[in-house]
Amino acid sequence: MEFNICQTIIKYLCLCLIFVRLMASEFAPEDFISIMPDNVITNILHRLPLQDAVRTSILSRNWRCKWTMLNELAIDQNFFVYLIERKAINSFWAIISKVLLYLNSAITKCVLILTLLEPEDIHHLIMFLSKKGIKDLTLTFWSSPPVKLPSHLFSCLELTHLNITRCCFNPPPGFRGFPNLLSLELCNVQFGGSDLGEFLTRCPLLEILDIGYLSYTGSVKLVDIAKLENLKRLSLSLCHMDTNVFELVSNLPKLQELGLDFQGCSLTKSGAKIKFSTAFPFIKALNLTRIDSGDGTMLSCALEMIRNFPNLHTLEIFPPTRHVDDPNPVSIPIPSPEVEYSMMELRNVVFRFIKGSENEIHLIRYFLACSPSLKKIEILCDCHYGERLIFARKLLKLHRASPTAEIDFN
Ligand SMILES: *[C@@H]1O[C@H](CO)[C@@H](O)[C@H](O)[C@H]1NC(C)=O
Ligand SMILES: *[C@@H]1O[C@H](CO)[C@@H](O)[C@H](O)[C@H]1NC(C)=O
Repeated sequence: MEFNICQTIIKYLCLCLIFVRLMASEFAPEDFISIMPDNVITNILHRLPLQDAVRTSILSRNWRCKWTMLNELAIDQNFFVYLIERKAINSFWAIISKVLLYLNSAITKCVLILTLLEPEDIHHLIMFLSKKGIKDLTLTFWSSPPVKLPSHLFSCLELTHLNITRCCFNPPPGFRGFPNLLSLELCNVQFGGSDLGEFLTRCPLLEILDIGYLSYTGSVKLVDIAKLENLKRLSLSLCHMDTNVFELVSNLPKLQELGLDFQGCSLTKSGAKIKFSTAFPFIKALNLTRIDSGDGTMLSCALEMIRNFPNLHTLEIFPPTRHVDDPNPVSIPIPSPEVEYSMMELRNVVFRFIKGSENEIHLIRYFLACSPSLKKIEILCDCHYGERLIFARKLLKLHRASPTAEIDFN
């Protein structure tokens, strides 16, 4: 939102500049747009969509080549819409290669949506970026079946942020790691070829690691993740772990945000009942995804986990994408009063796409009753009109420990 406003302001500023430029007489002293310092110019350029940045070449003679100083590049959804509106989508590669040819500075940040490209073109693009000192790279592939990442990516050793969606991620055998990488997000990515844990230990500075929706058949060893001692935010799938979550968390002293995907994880009844003697006061935000509320073991395990994070401020819970209606859902054991009234620090709770089952209402009841600082509980309901009414009526009856807690029901 803020970004959009900023963009609009800058667009108007550019229009004003063009106007001033056109009105200035031939003999006027050099106008201010021609003498703007380069850092101000690149700042303006970086806030414009690529097509508008290139268009600034008409502002003045001085500006003719300024856009080639761009060191942030966004070939994103906006750019595609722009091409489609001008019926130029088929010239995508021709346009991009021309733009790249003209750019003569380092490119530190780049957002790329890769579609309509031959593997060879993708290969060239990544090779180009690898030679331009790329630091922050977001790649989204829109092709199926998923393509293999060009190996040049693994020679971009200056990378600090890497965000990849939908492809095959195969680090080559001799890969030595990304020594400067601070954040790694792999979404719907197939990880193959090597050991994920070993790969991660080769990115020793990581602060943000999001591999929640990664397709990987092996398991990650606790010792490997524990080496990432700078981790502040971690999102991963429980089925990729060889260990208990609490053991993992106690090995990561700086961790504040944790996201766990429960898909495909098999929790045994005894495993879920393990009592943990330590509480983890550092965790401030927790996302639990693809939790099946019909699975009593899974739900008790989640509740147990939440209770062990006494300073949790933000909690989000998502059910599995494909809701299977269990005809005989197992109800979760109701916590006894002394457990129930151990208060929590929750401020914001979000339940996405829930159906209002007994277990879900039970969880909501628990959070409302035990969170005196709660500001808002957001419930995105995935049910029919009649069911919604019943659900809403049940919610209204629940006791709220926080007098100001708001229930946002959608
Ligand atoms: C990573 O990329 C995905 C897809 O483009 C996007 O939704 C997500 O916000 C990105 N993450 C960051 C931290 O930019
Ligand atoms: C939890 O989910 C929210 C919203 O979907 C997201 O902004 C946040 O980064 C997630 N945190 C983790 C640790 O996955």
